[in-house]
Amino acid sequence: MTAPALHISGRLEGPAGPLIAQFDATFAAGQWNVLLGPSGVGKTSLLRLIADLPCAARLTGEITATDGAALAPRVAMMAQDDQLLPWADALANVVIGARLRGARPDLQRGRALLAEVGLAAQAQRRPAQLSAGQRQRVILARTLYEDRPIVLLDEPFSALDVLTRHHMQDLAARLLAGRTVVLITHDPAEAARLAHHAWIATQAGIVPCSLPSSLPPRAAEAEETLAAQAILSRELKRCATQVPA
Ligand SMILES: Nc1ncnc2c1ncn2[C@@H]1O[C@H](COP(=O)(O)OP(=O)(O)OP(=O)(O)O)[C@@H](O)[C@H]1O
Ligand SMILES: [Mg+2]
Repeated sequence: MTAPALHISGRLEGPAGPLIAQFDATFAAGQWNVLLGPSGVGKTSLLRLIADLPCAARLTGEITATDGAALAPRVAMMAQDDQLLPWADALANVVIGARLRGARPDLQRGRALLAEVGLAAQAQRRPAQLSAGQRQRVILARTLYEDRPIVLLDEPFSALDVLTRHHMQDLAARLLAGRTVVLITHDPAEAARLAHHAWIATQAGIVPCSLPSSLPPRAAEAEETLAAQAILSRELKRCATQVPA
């Protein structure tokens, strides 16, 4: 599986006016690209546009894969407001993509992914019988089941306790190695652990941030991770006070 780089450029307008004035960024092929930025700036809108999903915002510009092939069929997305089918159990939810495509679901693989996210014993439970964090892990397993070269993750670990979050971050880093990942997060600690490259979206643009040269996933307590987290937090504060161009 070859994962292309993604190039996004242009300007983003929301229903009520400009969101991001001007940007030109390339998300690296086969690596974790992390996007941070204030609430409402347009991060989810950008991800939905990459996945060719309905979106309230409008892009004047382009989103392309650097190999020139179509993007949407190669994308798996874990959306911020993703839901599970309430009447189906966890396993059926993990393999739902296959059913929707009219393919035979690989239940063994679905079970293995549920086991990876720590939910082997909950495979027969319906979403209402799971906690919010457990539901988020089922959705992560469903995204991993899709096995696509481009994976878009919109705040995928936000409902998890800190230890489970670290575990899921490590799992996603392992299972998505070699894919082109775009991860949206509000958590500088998460970005410092997982990013090969990080950007902050502001009303003015999308600004690259510096990170340690070591490869992710980085240990949460490592000095360089904590230092990167501090730099990202400072950058986020600095960007929040900037006036758009
Ligand atoms: N369905 C919609 N109808 C009208 N406006 C919308 C809709 N969805 C989003 N918006 C507006 O578009 C802008 C960008 O929203 P978006 O969800 O992309 O932000 P975000 O950066 O992902 O924020 P957050 O960090 O809170 O998730 C916001 O100002 C929001 O109010
Ligand atoms: Mg969002």
